Amino acid sequence: MSHSFSLHQQVAIVTGAASGIGLAIAQQLVAAGAKVAMVDRDSTVIEKAHQMGNDSRGYIFDLMLVDKLEELIKQIHGDFGQIDILINNAGIGILEPVGEVKVESWNATMLINLTAPFFLAQHCSLLMQQRRYGRIINIASQASVIALQDHAAYCTSKAGVVSFTKVIAAEMGPFGITCNAISPTVVETELGKRYWHGERAEQMKNKIPVRRFASTEEIAGAVLYLSSHTAGIINGENLVVDGGYSVI
Ligand SMILES: NC(=O)c1ccc[n+]([C@@H]2O[C@H](COP(=O)([O-])OP(=O)(O)OC[C@H]3O[C@@H](n4cnc5c(N)ncnc54)[C@H](O)[C@@H]3O)[C@@H](O)[C@H]2O)c1
Repeated sequence: MSHSFSLHQQVAIVTGAASGIGLAIAQQLVAAGAKVAMVDRDSTVIEKAHQMGNDSRGYIFDLMLVDKLEELIKQIHGDFGQIDILINNAGIGILEPVGEVKVESWNATMLINLTAPFFLAQHCSLLMQQRRYGRIINIASQASVIALQDHAAYCTSKAGVVSFTKVIAAEMGPFGITCNAISPTVVETELGKRYWHGERAEQMKNKIPVRRFASTEEIAGAVLYLSSHTAGIINGENLVVDGGYSVI
């Protein structure tokens, strides 16, 4: 058993890797030695992967195309020869009060935040089984465990992510594959700042015991730990990274 954070010779897929938390995750995994397949619908992912080094590659792909996910995973597997780590990071937040939630925004949220991550995990875990090793990490949210105003679709999708994380952990554990979720508090990315700004952000920070939001690097650090050999006994967990918000 290796107690190491090194990801040397490992291949990781990171979705939503062109910006925000996903870009920080890709940077930390590469720094730990991994080759990263960076997936995003934003075409800048190609150049960002090029700059990342260590044979990383960008893939322009819209995760709403759930029928094409198997093809995407086959392509990445063909390009790299193996898949050791899947980071389901891409997500959207369409925030509407309960009375105004639209079917289109509900469905888009479920497809991107819940359906695509599950089927990516399905396809990757089947390949990981063959080598009896794998790490699957799903970026959920504090919204998976608490209610947030205007977040009905988002909260529901993230609670679903935590739920399938546990089932994959139970079914795939015997094959050397662990599956965990990470649930951040607000992070000041494009997604985070769109809702949490001004007085609303200050009020939220005042409810967090550490009195601040999380940085992208702090979330990426938690991902790095769960991606490592060292975390091999952690399986089916939802690591809440929220400065203590949900404990009070
Ligand atoms: N920022 C926060 O406050 C916060 C808090 C908790 C959890 N999260 C979660 O962290 C993850 C990353 O969020 P972020 O803040 O970095 O968001 P972001 O909007 O800054 O970045 C998301 C990235 O995902 C990509 N993406 C979105 N939809 C896609 C699709 N259909 N196909 C392919 N790529 C797509 C975007 O192009 C973008 O590059 C999300 O799952 C989000 O729900 C964020």
